[in-house]
This record gives sequence, structure tokens and C-alpha cells, in this order.
Amino acid sequence: MTAKVRHFLDTDDVSIETLRGLLQLAQAVKQAPERYAHELDGRVLGMVFQKPSTRTRVSFEVAMLQMGGHALYFNAQDLQLGRGETVADTARVLSRYVDGIVARVFAHADVVTLARYASVPVINGLSDYLHPCQVLADLLTLWEKKGRLEGLRLAYVGDGNNVCHSLLLAGSRLGLHLRVATPPGFEPHPEVVDRARSYARSSGGRVLWTSDPGEAVAGADAVYTDVWASMGQEHERAYRVQVFRPYQVNATLMGQARPDVIFMHCLPAHRGEEVTDDVIDGPASVVWDQAENRLHTQKALLLWLFHRVTL
Ligand code: CP
Ligand code: NVA
Repeated sequence: MTAKVRHFLDTDDVSIETLRGLLQLAQAVKQAPERYAHELDGRVLGMVFQKPSTRTRVSFEVAMLQMGGHALYFNAQDLQLGRGETVADTARVLSRYVDGIVARVFAHADVVTLARYASVPVINGLSDYLHPCQVLADLLTLWEKKGRLEGLRLAYVGDGNNVCHSLLLAGSRLGLHLRVATPPGFEPHPEVVDRARSYARSSGGRVLWTSDPGEAVAGADAVYTDVWASMGQEHERAYRVQVFRPYQVNATLMGQARPDVIFMHCLPAHRGEEVTDDVIDGPASVVWDQAENRLHTQKALLLWLFHRVTL
């Protein structure tokens, strides 16, 4: 009997136990990477990117290499996909060559279609809706820095985007108190907020939305922000910079959080817009650890998706 194909399009694709298990495994992998050096011998990961990437691309490539496998990077324009071959047909064909697929797409529906037609695991390496791989690294970072997840107050300030969505969906299942401040009109999607609220009811977590950054940040253990214009929204940048200006994470805003607050950002950052240099370069900033943790959490994810571990 062949094992069921696992996908990771949304943190909801894994149970809460598996989510916790992935974080524990990521810690073990981080402490002793050499133990996993041959776990993916001969495996090939195909990576299809419709948008640029530094962290996601490099961390997946390095993860595969360090575990004995190999990664192939494709800019969507280099594939026949760029000339009209369908996503479904691309999924069917790639599945005959590679053991897993990472896709970074504009429309979330494209990763859903890939997973539907692929016979190998598909990983969402960022869509317009979600960024689940990012949030695995964020949760590991929070856990390492604060020693717990339950009851932690995480303030997200800025745009209610893909990163905000995945933080809400995963954090609410693990009991975080999520406090989101966005300008009106830039709130996280109501479907995500509803789902997160229902998870919070079972986990003891909380989900608050406000248009007031000070209210979100008051007493926070962690303050998180992301760019004001995501990839694909560059044409709205000038307008967004005006609207989001009061949502900048600067020393004054950080001063309203707990004294031991940490600053988080998925990166890349637009310094001087959503965050000032003194905050991102300051002692509270954990952004480089967050970026490093992409590598360890994705190794854990690959081991689980390829059925190399039981969690
Ligand atoms: N945080 C993140 O996904 O970064 P990249 O766009 O560089 O992959
Ligand atoms: N929200 C950002 C995240 C980049 C990692 C974007 O989608 O561009």
C-alpha cells in the first residue's frame, strides 16, 4: 500500500499535534543537522516560482542539499507554464520527474490546482493568500525566544496580507493572543479571521482586530510587521505609503510593548517604511534568527512530507 500524498498549502493541512511535532523536529534538526544528512538521499525537489525570493528559494535548496537531496529552481517564465501550458498539466508532468514541488504563486488557486493534479507533495512557498512556511519559522522563533507559545501576545501591525493570514491561522490554533492593527480597508480576510476566532475558542487563544496600532502593541510580547505593498502590489505603493504611515513600527510604538518585547519581520524589509532602522537593527530584533529558522523548519517539513519521520 502506498502512503497518502501529503501537501502543505495552509497550516490547516496539518493537525495541531503535527504542527507541534514539526516545531520539535525543527529544534532537533537545528541542534544536530548531521543526523539528517542522508535522510533525503536521491530525492529531488522542484521549485516553481512566479515571484522573486531570497529566503524561501535558498533555504529550500540548502535544506535539500544538506539532507542528501537536490533542488531544481524554475522561474515560471522558463517553463512552458509561461507559454500557456496549464497548471494541472505542469503538475502531472513534474510529478513524473521530481519527488516534491514548492510553488510560489500569485493566485492561491494555483497551488490548490497543483496539489490536486500532482502525485507528489506540494508546498505553498507563498501565495497571495497565505505564507505557511514563513509561519513555521516564526513559531519556532517565538518558542525559542519566549519559551512558550500559549498566551503569548503577538501584535501584527500593517497590512492584513498573506503573512498576517498564516500567523492568524496557525497562532490561533496554538493559543497565541493575536492582536492585529491595520488601516480600515486593509484588514485580514474575514474568512481567515472567522477561522482563527473559532480555533482560538478551542485553544484558549484570542484574536483582536483594531485600527489603532497602540492598542495592538500595548503589553505585547512580540511585534511583527511586513511590507506595506506585497509582491504584485508595487503599482499601489505610493498610495499605500500614505495610508500606512501611522502603522510604522518605530521606537515610539515599540515603547508601548513589554520591556522584553521582540521585533519580528518575515523580510524583505522596506526600511524607513514599515520599520525604522533603529528597531530592525536594535536589540529587540530577532529577524535574522527568524530567517535562519526557515531552513530548520523546512527541513522538518520535508522530512514529514516525504514520510521520513512520524510525528
Ligand atoms: N520571507 C520570505 O518568504 O522571503 P523571500 O521572499 O526572500 O523568500
Ligand atoms: N507579504 C509579502 C511577503 C514576502 C515574503 C509579499 O507577499 O510580498
